[in-house]
Amino acid sequence: MSSYLNPELINLYKTIQTEVQELINDLQKHKNSAEYFQEIRKADREENYINWSNVQKASRFIYLNRTCFNGLYRVNSKGYFNVPFGKYLNPTICNEENLLACHKALKTTQIELADFSKILDFTEKGDFVYFDPPYVPLNETSDFTSYTKQGFNKHNQEELRNLCNELNKRGVFFMLSNSDTPFIHELYRDYKINLVFASRAINSAATKRGKITEVIIKNY
Ligand SMILES: C[S@@+](CC[C@H](N)C(=O)[O-])C[C@H]1O[C@@H](n2cnc3c(N)ncnc32)[C@H](O)[C@@H]1O
Repeated sequence: MSSYLNPELINLYKTIQTEVQELINDLQKHKNSAEYFQEIRKADREENYINWSNVQKASRFIYLNRTCFNGLYRVNSKGYFNVPFGKYLNPTICNEENLLACHKALKTTQIELADFSKILDFTEKGDFVYFDPPYVPLNETSDFTSYTKQGFNKHNQEELRNLCNELNKRGVFFMLSNSDTPFIHELYRDYKINLVFASRAINSAATKRGKITEVIIKNY
């Protein structure tokens, strides 16, 4: 399996689809303490993790997302989750209403863990595709590409643009979001590019939070 994909994320979506009540029940067990966080965080480094159920893994994913620093998802070069504890006073670890709404929305969805290029096998003229790829870093020190142990480099961004060209040729409508950077503007210069203001908690500089512009690219 390609290591830039995120099986933990796809497992979460599949679990919400098929075992949402079990997931909601499991989420009740978590505690918002630094010590407990470390226990849960290090689980993927231990041999026994392979025996965890899909529900337990999905529950861990949500727990870490809700309690880690800025809700960031980042793994190290070995693929182990490494975001520090967020020290939030009272994070909502189980948003039951939202999980049930997601469950309803995903009922008839086919969820696949696959490279973006696979979309060519699933689409035909008139279809609509939305891409939410890893964003181009805003500067050299930004580390937003590490959703998985391999990251997503300029070459991958170019491949994704080439795929968009192919979809465009086939009459498929596409929409894609990314960072507002010269590289992205140049890459998608043949398409419509709109700027949007996105409130991003995921920014290391507190002063910049909520003031980020991003781009929405469309071929229609
Ligand atoms: C900005 S995140 C999108 C998250 C998603 N919208 C969500 O909220 O669940 C980018 C995602 O792209 C995935 N990714 C990276 N390379 C990929 C590839 N070549 N094909 C498909 N997905 C890829 C990453 O694993 C990450 O989950």
